[in-house]
Amino acid sequence: MNPSSAEILPDTDAGHVRAADILRTGGLVAFPTETVYGLGADACDDRAVARIYDAKGRPSFNPLIVHFADPETLKRHVVWTPEAELLAQTFWPGPLTLVLRKQPDSPISPLVSAGLETLAVRLPAHASARAVLRAFGGGVAAPSANRSGQISPTQADHVVASLGNRVDAVLDGGSCAVGLESTIVGLLDKPVMLRPGGITEDVLAATLGRHLAIRHKAEALSAPGQLMSHYAPHAQVRLNATEWQPGELRLGFGDVACDLNLSESEDLVEAAAHLFDYLHRLDAQKGKVIAVSPIPHDGLGVAINDRLSRAAAPREG
Ligand code: TXA
Ligand code: MG
Repeated sequence: MNPSSAEILPDTDAGHVRAADILRTGGLVAFPTETVYGLGADACDDRAVARIYDAKGRPSFNPLIVHFADPETLKRHVVWTPEAELLAQTFWPGPLTLVLRKQPDSPISPLVSAGLETLAVRLPAHASARAVLRAFGGGVAAPSANRSGQISPTQADHVVASLGNRVDAVLDGGSCAVGLESTIVGLLDKPVMLRPGGITEDVLAATLGRHLAIRHKAEALSAPGQLMSHYAPHAQVRLNATEWQPGELRLGFGDVACDLNLSESEDLVEAAAHLFDYLHRLDAQKGKVIAVSPIPHDGLGVAINDRLSRAAAPREG
């Protein structure tokens, strides 16, 4: 087994301050929440967020939850609604995540919501999580701190075993009390249960005074155009372009002349960090075709190619 290179931080003021400093410089810090350990990065830092996907080794970009210490900071990034207020008053801080429309001027990295115009936000109850988030001051994007396909970690040891060489630090705050990920509720047009969890539909419905639609993942994924559908550019997308056609918007990778370059140095973390932003920027130029250089299919390149091939797929209706 590889020895871990992660700094183990104590659950003290000094440990929380150190965690916040690492986050501020673009590092990855695993920290406990009341549900499971999260793999945290500064949600506004494209490159740090790209490092989360790289560390987890997921073959696609699943959108991430952003964690905050206080509701005031959180509300700057989303379009707040009366139903959000009701649920927040009743269940926060705690194991409930709300998916809301993202404020158009929010500085949160587009990679956090994988190009969606919505944002999943939560205010955790765990004292160590709150202390780190307070010391940091902004939003921290954090999926469960495990490699893709492994079980969610509820102790610092689990994180070290799974990601010890891929995180900068692990804050050791003991065991997570809940051990089950947060309940996720979408509040876009009507309330929808997106992931069941400890806070059940009955309790949520009693608070809102109406039932929630249930949308499980498989269904959501098979319903493009719905909540889980990802940003598709208006322009057509042409993949693996080794030369450019006249009039094309050119999204390059490596040493090529182009309009925007995902990474001149062929760094896949940098390419992932730029991906959604650059697709949006080229699409805003309202051309017919966005042509994209070939991207290697290893490491983060798998997730980047997955995203690009969805963008290039024929459109419905
Ligand atoms: O308890 C938890 O929620 C833990 C701790 C660390 O906070 N986090 C967690 O994150 O479980 P993760 O990445 O393993 O799961 C996030 C879920 C994914 O299923 C993702 O699809 C969904 O949240 N999600 C995130 N943003 C979304 C969005 N904008 N719209 C719909 N679903 C979203
Ligand atoms: Mg997970």
